[in-house]
Amino acid sequence: MYNVAIVGATGLVGSTFLKVLEEYQFPIKNLKLLASSKSAGKKIIFKNKEYIVEELNENSFTNIDLALFSAGADVSKKFAPIACKEGALVIDNSSCWRQDPTKALVVPEVNFDDVKMSRIIANPNCSTIQSIIPLKALDDKYGLKRVVYTTYQAVSGSGMKGINDLKNTLNNEKPQFYPYDISKTCIPEIDVALDNDYTKEEMKMVNETRKMLHKPDLKISATCVRVPVMNSHAVSIMVELEKSFDIEDVRNVISNFPGLVLVDNIKEHKYPISLLSNGNDKVYVGRIRRDLSCDNGLLLYTVADNIRKGAAANAVQIAFKMHEYGLIK
Ligand SMILES: NC(=O)c1ccc[n+]([C@@H]2O[C@H](COP(=O)([O-])OP(=O)(O)OC[C@H]3O[C@@H](n4cnc5c(N)ncnc54)[C@H](OP(=O)(O)O)[C@@H]3O)[C@@H](O)[C@H]2O)c1
Repeated sequence: MYNVAIVGATGLVGSTFLKVLEEYQFPIKNLKLLASSKSAGKKIIFKNKEYIVEELNENSFTNIDLALFSAGADVSKKFAPIACKEGALVIDNSSCWRQDPTKALVVPEVNFDDVKMSRIIANPNCSTIQSIIPLKALDDKYGLKRVVYTTYQAVSGSGMKGINDLKNTLNNEKPQFYPYDISKTCIPEIDVALDNDYTKEEMKMVNETRKMLHKPDLKISATCVRVPVMNSHAVSIMVELEKSFDIEDVRNVISNFPGLVLVDNIKEHKYPISLLSNGNDKVYVGRIRRDLSCDNGLLLYTVADNIRKGAAANAVQIAFKMHEYGLIK
């Protein structure tokens, strides 16, 4: 049994941590819920017991075994090392540590062994999590040569601000968060623009995929697009493989890989859609077909719940597997 702290417990990802910890029956002795001063004193029910949210400070992590962070990169940068120093294992949902070469970046189905690298473990970007699992399945069998991602990302990926902007603009109010009315258009801009004309979100997908697959030179690029969908991201993936393949074998590889569900019969309108993934932790894969533009090219399409598998559930799955291997304390 563990003493667990949730940093950002009142947020979209933080509240989903609680839901997933309960569903997975994670062995919790004591639970501490932390947020900013704004939410201090707020009451939250977990497993029929009432908890009071506390303001995060330097003394929040005494006797904590596991700290799950989802309060943004600045909070993680300051407080994750403090939690770690107090002896806690940290699993962090922000982008703060993902590209730090001394910190693990983990999707359990892909590179669980990397957890041994560090006591601060980074949870990857939501779109990368759902993309890298089928890529790992394909890499093991055929080898990856080149990858091109195009995402269709739900507004919940921006937290409460994104959800509220879609709801409000659907009621004909002016956008407060996105630069355009998200209820009426897709927006090909997620996170800040960088000097190479990519956005930070796009480069997260590139760099995180390379890091987790241990392929620093993988040829890969991404376009990330916000779409007027409340929850669950979709990613279209073009992948050029080293070896030739049979399409039915590819379908078998995907359907036999942990965490993936094959939904792939276009003639019967069966393919991954948000309505399948909302509220569960599977990655749905379909629209599998040959890319007609190159040799050994393959196209596929994935959908997953970005708040669950793309954030909270992936982090809890890391913690649960570490518990099973006796690696938390
Ligand atoms: N949404 C996604 O799909 C997704 C996916 C992967 C990763 N993430 C990452 O997870 C983090 C949280 O995202 P979210 O969508 O859950 O955002 P959110 O709904 O806006 O929640 C933010 C949480 O952080 C807390 N917080 C903010 N500033 C704080 C501070 N100075 N000290 C302590 N707590 C503070 C907030 O507490 P108050 O209630 O007190 O303000 C709230 O609990 C971000 O780093 C985000 O990039 C999100």
